[in-house]
Amino acid sequence: MEQVPVWLTLRDRSVVVVGGTDKAAAKVRLALNAGARVTVVAPSLGIEVAELVRGGRAQHVARRFAAADLDDATIVYGATGIDTVDTEVAVAARAARVLVNVVDRPALSDFSMPAIIDRGAVVVGVSTGGTVPALAAAVRARIEAALPPRLARLAVFAESFRDAIRAKIAFGPARLRFWQRVVAGPIAEQVLSGDEARAHAQVLQALNGPDSMQTGGTVYLVGAGPGDPELLTLRALRLLQTADVIVYDRLVGPGVLDYARRDAERVFVGKEPTRHPVPQSEINMLLADRARTGLSVVRLKGGDPLIFGRGGEEADHLRAAGVKVEVVPGITAALACAAAAGVPLTHRDHAMEVTFVTGHGRDEGFEPDWATLARSRHTLVVYMGVGHAGEIAAKLMANGLPASTPIAVVQNGTLETQRVVAGSLAQLESLLADHGVSNPAVFLIGEVARAAQTSGAVPAELLRAVAG
Ligand SMILES: C[S@@+](CC[C@H](N)C(=O)[O-])C[C@H]1O[C@@H](n2cnc3c(N)ncnc32)[C@H](O)[C@@H]1O
Repeated sequence: MEQVPVWLTLRDRSVVVVGGTDKAAAKVRLALNAGARVTVVAPSLGIEVAELVRGGRAQHVARRFAAADLDDATIVYGATGIDTVDTEVAVAARAARVLVNVVDRPALSDFSMPAIIDRGAVVVGVSTGGTVPALAAAVRARIEAALPPRLARLAVFAESFRDAIRAKIAFGPARLRFWQRVVAGPIAEQVLSGDEARAHAQVLQALNGPDSMQTGGTVYLVGAGPGDPELLTLRALRLLQTADVIVYDRLVGPGVLDYARRDAERVFVGKEPTRHPVPQSEINMLLADRARTGLSVVRLKGGDPLIFGRGGEEADHLRAAGVKVEVVPGITAALACAAAAGVPLTHRDHAMEVTFVTGHGRDEGFEPDWATLARSRHTLVVYMGVGHAGEIAAKLMANGLPASTPIAVVQNGTLETQRVVAGSLAQLESLLADHGVSNPAVFLIGEVARAAQTSGAVPAELLRAVAG
């Protein structure tokens, strides 16, 4: 580490910015945000700084820099971009013992400016010591994504309980534990999702009875997307990183759990070769029981929890049991697989409608309306259809969909093992058999799937040309 991070208090202190252009504007804004009194020294001003001066937020000294400008300064920025002037600022600052930063000139600076993630009282700075600002910006983008926008609210919320917590719980591990539960558990999650009233009531309860934190956990039905962790939503990521318990099944991509909190309890409820899946009634009970003990429970489901994922049933059960449920949508297989195959699900020339249907509905006593599904200018996406491919194609053709209708099938969409095969509706069953396509896979059926023939997503050996 070449530099030591410190956070400067600039409220009501004098900050001098030498230069009036865009480079200077960023420094002026930053100092103003921190409550500083800002003086800009420059013969002329760019649009942004001029606007701030006109609005009375910064003072303007309309001339060249002079050492006396630093008389009252706490820090100074050299931001003219003119070598001789910036060097003069650095030399004068050093003589006056005023900390100086010269934009893009680490050698002339006492301090460098980190890339900042600003969440109110919570501020994160990323520094590369002024050497590679672009790298700092790239790291910042990653942290920005991980820190929820309402973190600032959480800081204000927690601060409002400071005195009460101090008065109620003696300094030491018990107070520390209490704080941890407030800022990292279900209470924090409620604040971050906008339910401050409930969070407030829970802190009061917790303060007034040691066991009352044990009530009111939440089950989050979270969409894990199709498999590639990059396709998780930011909210799913955050919940994974804060959950006490994660209940997941086999469709959750293997890389997704790498993003979960290390010490969270993980419960696998899917089918394994040697094990039957946990019955739905048991999953429901498990979720409710864990939530009732005050834990934050993430029920992670492949794709979107409410698309052929039994999320609706679990939510009904939990609500009936008095457990709070929140749904976090995910990217469903249809959307991810269509993108992977280069197929637009709708297209003004070919399809103005799209239907998602399960291919094994019959096993559960559901027979689709084949005539409706076979209509033209329509895209059909079939989930769970691999075992019924021949029958599905036959029904659609019998109801008028041409045998030459283009299709694409995506197996393990977005995973490293992804495969896309393409051909015509009449070839669906033989394509799957010839190439050993197995679950999980979706069928994309309709004129739009012709795009898979040319998108480059299908290797030549997995492609059968479609007439027309
Ligand atoms: C029980 S459904 C769950 C669907 C999930 N909730 C969703 O929104 O994608 C399982 C079926 O989804 C489809 N599926 C899920 N993930 C997939 C993937 N990565 N690639 C292809 N199909 C997938 C397959 O048809 C699989 O049999």
